[in-house]
Amino acid sequence: MSALSVLPPECLLQPFIVPKRLMLGPGPSNVPARISAAGAQPMLGHLHAETIEIMNQIKSGIQYAFQTQNRVTLAVSGPGHAAMECAIFNSLEPGESVLIAVNGIWGERAAEIAERIGAKVNTVVTSAGGYFTNEEIEQALDKYRPVVFFLTHGESSTGVVHPIDGIGDLCHKYNCLFLVDSVAALGGTPICMDEQGIDIMYTGSQKVLNAPPGTAPISFSERACYHHTGPITSFYGLRESLAILAETGLENSWKRHKEVAEYFHKGLEEMGLKLFVQDKKARLPTVTTIVAPPGYDWREITGYIMKTYNIEISGGLGPSAGMVLRVGLMGCNSSKANVDLVLEALADALKHCHKSRV
Ligand SMILES: Cc1ncc(COP(=O)(O)O)c(C=O)c1O
Repeated sequence: MSALSVLPPECLLQPFIVPKRLMLGPGPSNVPARISAAGAQPMLGHLHAETIEIMNQIKSGIQYAFQTQNRVTLAVSGPGHAAMECAIFNSLEPGESVLIAVNGIWGERAAEIAERIGAKVNTVVTSAGGYFTNEEIEQALDKYRPVVFFLTHGESSTGVVHPIDGIGDLCHKYNCLFLVDSVAALGGTPICMDEQGIDIMYTGSQKVLNAPPGTAPISFSERACYHHTGPITSFYGLRESLAILAETGLENSWKRHKEVAEYFHKGLEEMGLKLFVQDKKARLPTVTTIVAPPGYDWREITGYIMKTYNIEISGGLGPSAGMVLRVGLMGCNSSKANVDLVLEALADALKHCHKSRV
């Protein structure tokens, strides 16, 4: 008899079996076997020479993916949120003014983080599915005179890719740092940090990079120093995902994501479904938002597709909740074969799910 009052949990005494699933939501996406295998390599110490070398390789990979020569380029341990918090906390002091572009949940989230550190938060806000012109951004910079301007490159809650050109110059004209969240877009659509005058940028590992969640690439304008026992095996996975991106080539990766997304959009329109983002050039290639089919309960559609096809797609988030279905085609999941699968699943779901009379 054990003297312990809390016994070993019965559930942990059983083996655990993880089902194979096609992950076509807004993330995480599937992890290619090569990346999973990298993560299963032997553990090293965080200060061992080999780990330092892997971290240097990761740094070069991130510099390539971000298109930056910035020396302060590294992987933060944690999800995209960790990089987001790290970027905002290290670029703003309490009482300083920050301007945040809100066209979905990620701008809202950045505003909450900045408020918590006691910054003076001002926002420019547009409706879900929209984006800002450079004139609107300049007017706001002139009015609020912030030290940091935050913009989401790929707004995964609404499916919008924000234009970046010219905004870095505007920020610098007003003596302000340009901070970009490219968690849902990096590798899937063009962005060149140095050329576009971006001072701070971050992404996550679990979207186009296809690495397991847990590391978040970030590049700073010559600030910050960070040290702890890093998640070594996640570094292996991130290193391998950056190697795949380097072998593929950024331009080829952007091109493939664009072509596959356009093929998907055409298929959706042929089925009679409507895309949520009206402006074609503002459609994010990595995450497509589809207007929730009228008369249906979107939860029944996503549930049917999961149950019948073992494919994950998702509903809206934040300002798009209840309004859209979201389908992610990221990294290795960005293929015409996956588009055909998800179109077939959607068509079948529309036949079998309950349609109310409206
Ligand atoms: C644009 C954007 N920013 C930040 C995040 C947060 O990343 P994570 O879920 O890895 O914390 C996400 C996640 O979906 C995102 O799409």
